[in-house]
Amino acid sequence: MRVLVTGGLGFIGSHIVEYYLKKGWRVTILDNFYSNAGHSNKSKGVLYNLDHLRRNYGEIELVNRDVRSFDSVKEAAKDADFIFHTAAQVAVTTSLKDPRTDFETNALGTLNVLEAARLNDSAVVFCSTNKVYGTNINKIPVREYEKRYAFADEDYSNGIPETFPIDACWHSPYGCSKLAADIYVQDYAHTYGLRSGVFRLSCVYGERQFGVEDQGWLSWFVIATLTNRPITIYGDGKQVRDVLFVTDLIRAFDSFLASNLKHEVFNLGGGPQNTLSLLELFDFIEKVSGKRPRVSFADWRPADQKVYVSDIRKAERLLGWRPNVNPSDGVSRIFRWTSNNIDLFTES
Ligand SMILES: NC(=O)c1ccc[n+]([C@@H]2O[C@H](COP(=O)([O-])OP(=O)(O)OC[C@H]3O[C@@H](n4cnc5c(N)ncnc54)[C@H](O)[C@@H]3O)[C@@H](O)[C@H]2O)c1
Repeated sequence: MRVLVTGGLGFIGSHIVEYYLKKGWRVTILDNFYSNAGHSNKSKGVLYNLDHLRRNYGEIELVNRDVRSFDSVKEAAKDADFIFHTAAQVAVTTSLKDPRTDFETNALGTLNVLEAARLNDSAVVFCSTNKVYGTNINKIPVREYEKRYAFADEDYSNGIPETFPIDACWHSPYGCSKLAADIYVQDYAHTYGLRSGVFRLSCVYGERQFGVEDQGWLSWFVIATLTNRPITIYGDGKQVRDVLFVTDLIRAFDSFLASNLKHEVFNLGGGPQNTLSLLELFDFIEKVSGKRPRVSFADWRPADQKVYVSDIRKAERLLGWRPNVNPSDGVSRIFRWTSNNIDLFTES
């Protein structure tokens, strides 16, 4: 089997690459080292992941090209049975500063992937996001507890289903570009019969995640605590997410490919059993590290959701899948990996 992973040097992409290389499949990565720009932790992640893959699996098929170029995507996708499309501009903050690059990368980039898939008859797995629901999520009343918010409406006790409204609300440019891409993937299934899985991800975390303040908050909080950097919380820290360990995500992707499903949209996260507020995360971090993060508080950011929990029952039912790693184990694992690689985060 032949797989193309766009964004294959990123956090989720590199775990997909590793999973299929282990299976002995032929894997091609298309990545333009976008995340390598700048001088943050994240910029180190792309190079670290490349080195990690080379060290463990030998020479890697890497196409250093941009998803915004159709010719590049078409060439890389030749003969691919499956395309995992993870490449994206991933930060809401960046999308607010530069909505054009965000749009071209996320919306046009996805159209290019779909056109390449159509030519090859490849199946597509697309990493969408819970941001497609925008601030509609905030219309659900919440209850406030000491360390967290929770949905107050019983209708959402299992989380947000795939049928939740996506329009008449605020999304941020990132939410819009990912939503455009999400709808395009769905439409290619309906119009051209393309096989595809759209996975609306909540919060994915795990080893080899180079979190920064703007994206990958769980990893960022662990890195900041271990390197004594200050953390700014936007809001009051009671915001809740369902968290999904990256290896559980890859199993869900693989279950989709192995199934007879033609086209589906899934909300995918840890579900109601695997939720964390930021304040609760600090307690976890303190438990595993003995250190309390240095925290200050600032205003909520545009389009922030107070609570987001995925209803994962459709994924459980159709994919025979459920998350295996609970937040306590997951945070311990990410903490261990970050501690073992602390030099990466302390060097300038
Ligand atoms: N990590 C999460 O919790 C989460 C949550 C919701 C959605 N997602 C989605 O999952 C996908 C992967 O996220 P991640 O956390 O692994 O991000 P990441 O930033 O670690 O990886 C993205 C990769 O895409 C590459 N890339 C960016 N622009 C590109 C371009 N124009 N051409 C080619 N390559 C390009 C980057 O260099 C990087 O290697 C994204 O589509 C993101 O929107 C992630």
